[in-house]
Amino acid sequence: MKNIYLIGFMGAGKTSVARALSAASGMDMIEMDQRIEQEAGMPITEIFAKYGEEYFRDLETELVRTLAGESELVVSCGGGSVLREENAARMKESGHIVLLTASPETIFERVRYSTNRPVLNGNMNIDYIRGLMEKRRERYETVADLMVPTDGRPVRIIAADILAQV
Ligand code: S3P
Repeated sequence: MKNIYLIGFMGAGKTSVARALSAASGMDMIEMDQRIEQEAGMPITEIFAKYGEEYFRDLETELVRTLAGESELVVSCGGGSVLREENAARMKESGHIVLLTASPETIFERVRYSTNRPVLNGNMNIDYIRGLMEKRRERYETVADLMVPTDGRPVRIIAADILAQV
């Protein structure tokens, strides 16, 4: 089995769905942000604050390179990781790219109390989320092999839906 890469906006449900997919399939799960935090020894917000976003994006690219060399992984990807062409190409070569979608209202409800998402720091409102989602939408849809809605759907149903289609 190739890897399964879950992509989509912050709060689309990538981590929860990855956990359910891993439980249902027996494939190991990797959470990119968590792995980057472990390896850097600091939270994402601190990486952004100390070294800047480009440095964080380089760490993501490094990690995608590593993961693309493996198989049978369910990967919960950082929301911005497919914006770099190199990353998306490596994911495509080594697995299925599954886009999780949700409305800006749902996303807001899921992330509103999060303090570890520097991209939304100071911009924690529906209008900002809607605008950034719109900017990224075409990119997400272009790289995805499969699109799965998450609004109002239980995580285990979403996971079963994905497993039936990959
Ligand atoms: C980001 C999404 C975050 C994290 C970083 C940047 C983005 O991951 O990688 O804060 O640019 O969309 P999640 O999608 O897991 O929240």
